[in-house]
Amino acid sequence: MMDGLFITFEGMEGAGKTTLARWLSDHLQAEGMRTWFTYEPWEPRLRSILLEHSNLQSTEELLLFVADRAIHTRYIRERLAEGTIVVCDRYADSTLIYQGYGRGIDIEWVRALNRFATGDLCPRRTYLLDVPVEIGLSRQRELNRIGAEEIAFHERVRQGFLQEAEREPQRFMVLDATRDLQELQSVIWADVHTHLR
Ligand code: TMP
Repeated sequence: MMDGLFITFEGMEGAGKTTLARWLSDHLQAEGMRTWFTYEPWEPRLRSILLEHSNLQSTEELLLFVADRAIHTRYIRERLAEGTIVVCDRYADSTLIYQGYGRGIDIEWVRALNRFATGDLCPRRTYLLDVPVEIGLSRQRELNRIGAEEIAFHERVRQGFLQEAEREPQRFMVLDATRDLQELQSVIWADVHTHLR
């Protein structure tokens, strides 16, 4: 059994998840809790291949994201075992959504690969920042290789996230990312406390 708490933030580019995830980790730390803010893709060399390599095929992309997650999960497990609260900007749901719903790779196959890579480690709570595609994209200053995909891809991503959130309502909390940052922070803050012992 692990003692820490595993929290993830998900959503499309420009939803504001990175800002909120960092904020949450810092705030919990300020309250005296041990936290680790982290993100995916995680391993620096894999990250640069994944976000910058222009000639990557869908299958290759999927396998590299999953490989990155297998490495990252080892470190996450160590932190959780020490009782740390791990706040992660994207995790397995992103692969399911971007490579499954977005790229059109078989969803059950992606689920199986995620289970294989993570040994079934699953976040206790996932905050899904939902934002209309045009707003999300317009908020983003620099788009990476995947962020620069066509609008239809991002629409599939948005709908995929919402569908997965409905499938697992006890884990996901869907937040309207067009709301004020402070409002979002107070909803998340209240919710996180229900998961802390
Ligand atoms: P971001 O975290 O700055 O949004 O950049 C990560 C990019 O990688 C984003 O476009 C989503 C994409 N991504 C996937 O396609 N699959 C994954 O499993 C992960 C973690 C990210």
